[in-house]
Amino acid sequence: MSSSTERETDRAHITLWLCPNDGLSPETAALLAEHWLDAQERRTAGKFLFERDRLQYLIAHTLVRRALALEAGLAEAELVIWRSVRGRPFLRPTTDLAARGGRPLDFNLSHAGGYNFLGIVRHRRIGVDVERIAERDEHAVATIVNAISPPERAWVTRAAPGPERDRRALRVWVLKEAYSKARGLGLGIPFDSFVFTLDDEGGVRAFTPPADDTGRAWRFLELEPVPGVLVAVAVPDGGDHDDETGTGAGAGETVVHLNHGFPWSRSAPHRLLLPEPVGGDTYAAAA
Ligand SMILES: CC(C)(COP(=O)(O)OP(=O)(O)OC[C@H]1O[C@@H](n2cnc3c(N)ncnc32)[C@H](O)[C@@H]1OP(=O)(O)O)[C@@H](O)C(=O)NCCC(=O)NCCS
Repeated sequence: MSSSTERETDRAHITLWLCPNDGLSPETAALLAEHWLDAQERRTAGKFLFERDRLQYLIAHTLVRRALALEAGLAEAELVIWRSVRGRPFLRPTTDLAARGGRPLDFNLSHAGGYNFLGIVRHRRIGVDVERIAERDEHAVATIVNAISPPERAWVTRAAPGPERDRRALRVWVLKEAYSKARGLGLGIPFDSFVFTLDDEGGVRAFTPPADDTGRAWRFLELEPVPGVLVAVAVPDGGDHDDETGTGAGAGETVVHLNHGFPWSRSAPHRLLLPEPVGGDTYAAAA
């Protein structure tokens, strides 16, 4: 291995997968799921009322197992996935993984509008979200606008009603979901208790966390990898998490590998850097 490749491997990195449902046939998804999913996942799949929802579940969880297997160097069916009381899935560290020199992996999944978005990271927590802009009706955007913090609402409503306002609302929303999912809280955290300050053209300028998460910076990535499809990623600016929210030493430069399509495609990932950390203050304006 060349020294530059060693440096790339050693450096903190995040692997992202954006996979459209129609990239995997229902037959293939069902076949892979039969071999890879555990008993609980199969039970969950069996409970969906509508076939389209069952298929969405099979595709998403086939993706999760395949991508984690690649990252961990284990077989898909060997991976043990458990869920927190709030429903957040975790990969249980195994002695096999440690024996092969593997470091703790965290992952997070989102699915919406026919897309699956998966983030995988080592030593840290990760949260991800995907949303499709075209699917939002006026009512859904109004609901988002009502749920977010006053400064975010002011920024969103400065844009004219219509596509520009919808885009701003969704940009804020995916970031909020990614942050709360990294923390494992889902919608259990009031979405008006933390604030993103966004650049009009893209990117997070500032982040004011909720009162229970001060003194730690976060890194956020927002992208539109496919026109009309917004994704966001949140990771705490540190390594070696050992608590519910993920703490640790400063991470330095983090490389992101963004993959399109399912993990058996051989196309090279798009490589980018995770933006600089933001945040650390307390948000008291809403109190
Ligand atoms: C997590 C949550 C925000 C999902 O939002 P969503 O926009 O509808 O869905 P997304 O597609 O972005 O994400 C769904 C995925 O997030 C993951 N997820 C579920 N709960 C999660 C949590 N608490 N934190 C992080 N990720 C979670 C799962 O992988 C889920 O997919 P799956 O059910 O197919 O495995 C929402 O389900 C939620 O708030 N759950 C928490 C519920 C809760 O607090 N329960 C308390 C019971 S005591």
